[in-house]
Amino acid sequence: DDLKDVIHSLKGLSDLEMSLEKVLGVKKVIIVQGNSDEDELVLKDMGRASAKYLRSVISYNSVIGITGGTTMAQVAEEMCQEKKYSDVLVLPARGGLGKNVEIQANSIAAKLAQKLGGNYRLLHVPDNIEEETIAALLKVPEVNEFVNTMKNIDVLVFGMGRADEMAKKRKSSEEKIEKLIEKGAVAEAFGHYFDRNGDTVWESMTVGLSLIDFKKVGNVIGVAGGERKAEAIISICSIREDMILVTDEGAAKKILDIV
Ligand code: F6P
Repeated sequence: DDLKDVIHSLKGLSDLEMSLEKVLGVKKVIIVQGNSDEDELVLKDMGRASAKYLRSVISYNSVIGITGGTTMAQVAEEMCQEKKYSDVLVLPARGGLGKNVEIQANSIAAKLAQKLGGNYRLLHVPDNIEEETIAALLKVPEVNEFVNTMKNIDVLVFGMGRADEMAKKRKSSEEKIEKLIEKGAVAEAFGHYFDRNGDTVWESMTVGLSLIDFKKVGNVIGVAGGERKAEAIISICSIREDMILVTDEGAAKKILDIV
């Protein structure tokens, strides 16, 4: 690991991390080499770096929340199989949001828990449901218990995406996509869309982590890379200045270019 640190600093990544911490105003930035837009292996490296950081902040009885997406899948994949956290609980931060892209949050949570030797809970509740339906769902004991357990999340690891890409992936209507863009949405995270300043443009109605919950979680680790996500990362980083960002060189350089 010491050798890795030396190589890291020789490559100028430590300087880049410090610059990014300053411009984004976040607590800590971890940068891996390369650009995940061009090289899939970089996504793996981001996963590994995030898993390593995650291990450094969890304790024996942590409650970890995790979202879906290809980046989060790599975090679980790259977690080493230590199986020493038998009291750790892993929860999908947004339940199952209905479409394939999102359902992964459940399987990612299960995989992460299994790697750590801990426990997990699953939630299968669709996204964008009517308020009355949510109220009815909350009366189901298992759902209610899940929602209460979610309040205990002390470490959240989450993916960040571009608003336009995520809205399309979720098969949102043309009308909704247009509205999002019109209102300046550039980023998406845990089912919420944000503008460049990190202000909420649209919040999906579901059972799961809300923005209020997000602001209360003790440790939040956002992971996203690739030049194309630069603006989305800037947006999400302005929501919480004590967040940890794990990203890649491609996104980092682009962010410094456009801020
Ligand atoms: O759909 C879950 C989610 O975490 C979104 O909130 C986020 O925008 C997206 O996945 C990131 O996906 P990926 O890591 O595949 O780019």
